[in-house]
Amino acid sequence: MSTQHSTAPAPNALQSRALRDTLGQFATGVTVVTTCDTSGNPLGMTVNSFNSVSLDPPLILWSIDRQSLGYEAFTKQPYFAVHILKADQQHVSNLFAGRGADKFGQVRWHEGPEQVPILEDCAAYFHCRLYNCVEGGDHTILLGEVQDFKAEGGEPLVFHRGCYRSLSADD
Ligand SMILES: Cc1cc2nc3c(=O)[nH]c(=O)nc-3n(C[C@H](O)[C@H](O)[C@H](O)COP(=O)(O)O)c2cc1C
Repeated sequence: MSTQHSTAPAPNALQSRALRDTLGQFATGVTVVTTCDTSGNPLGMTVNSFNSVSLDPPLILWSIDRQSLGYEAFTKQPYFAVHILKADQQHVSNLFAGRGADKFGQVRWHEGPEQVPILEDCAAYFHCRLYNCVEGGDHTILLGEVQDFKAEGGEPLVFHRGCYRSLSADD
């Protein structure tokens, strides 16, 4: 894992809140990233830090909180999938942002290559090989090399200032 140490002073709670609020001005899509643990159990979490990186080689990135229950699996398992959610999949985002519950019992999915769970009815998915992990403070940045992908299309789910939005809504 690549490492870089910060020289910035630790922010107080107020500054952290202000930073989060300011970062929240940036509108993103919403994805669910999936993999399986060493026993073959499916794992998934909601992620909006997804972004494109490179076309040659084809790379994407997302970042995972080091406190996440899925941290060990996502930073060690060699494959994962990223699913871009549609506007009508807010419930899927909420489900995979929660802890504990049987997430995969409540959505349609099938097992893809390398046992990676593939969620159905999403706008698009990318099946990736873990390419590199980069330390990023309280998060770790995962780079994935795209092995396969498919776009179904449809209106995307949008996240902005802590709320779900849709492109057609005029709020
Ligand atoms: C819209 C949205 C975006 C999120 N993006 C991220 C993210 O990019 N990285 C992350 O670590 N957690 C993110 N989260 C929080 C995780 O989905 C949440 O902590 C989840 O419970 C982690 O699952 P786990 O702890 O069971 O592994 C996001 C949550 C929401 C609602």
